[in-house]
Amino acid sequence: MLENPSSRRGFLRTSSIAGASLVSPFALAQQKPEEKEQNKGDEKISPAEDLMREHGVLNRILLIYDEHLKMLTEKHPFDGSILASAADIVRRFVEEYHEKLEEEFLFPRFRKANQHVRLVDTLLAQHNAGRDLTAKIRELAGTATLKYVSSDSDKLDDALRSFLRMYRPHEAREDTVLFPAFRSIVSSHEYDALGEDFEKKEDESFGDDGFFKVVDQVAQLEKRLGIYELAEFTPR
Ligand SMILES: [Fe+2]
Ligand SMILES: [Fe+2]
Repeated sequence: MLENPSSRRGFLRTSSIAGASLVSPFALAQQKPEEKEQNKGDEKISPAEDLMREHGVLNRILLIYDEHLKMLTEKHPFDGSILASAADIVRRFVEEYHEKLEEEFLFPRFRKANQHVRLVDTLLAQHNAGRDLTAKIRELAGTATLKYVSSDSDKLDDALRSFLRMYRPHEAREDTVLFPAFRSIVSSHEYDALGEDFEKKEDESFGDDGFFKVVDQVAQLEKRLGIYELAEFTPR
């Protein structure tokens, strides 16, 4: 079924580029870099894609947590400022934004439709547990200036481990069960409208192209930690 192209997900707003209703991949390839940059904010994405790319940000923070856990295990001293900044991004972007969207827009609709109710209960309990863990990680990272007393180090090790253990299955279940099911419990009109609401909220909370700004902040932390180069993860 064809929908009105102006409201259809996945289409780019293109009038300023070619005066056409669509931009072909070829036309995109011909664009100057600054035009490509502008398109980042004009891209329309579905609620599921929006939430899943936010999980991508969370996954990159989990890698930062992994790296700190490794340093703790090896008793390798570190300055806690990178970890503190990562925990701040979790609080601001994951807990106060991404999870709020799930709690406000997804969970109540599943309850109303009487679908995946147990899963939703568990996901909500995990959001709350995550907030407690983040508060602990943030506090311990703030006191970690190269000289951990061992009890703090153990507490931080525990909190990071618990966070990693919970969030990997949490987000995997949302990506593979909850988000795909969400598409079937709302009308396509409501689904499209929610995508637009999510984008608006993101811009209100983090500025224009807010998602990309947060990705850049995470990339800066990865660089400081020495885990930014993707090629370094390829087996040799
Ligand atoms: Fe969640
Ligand atoms: Fe999520």
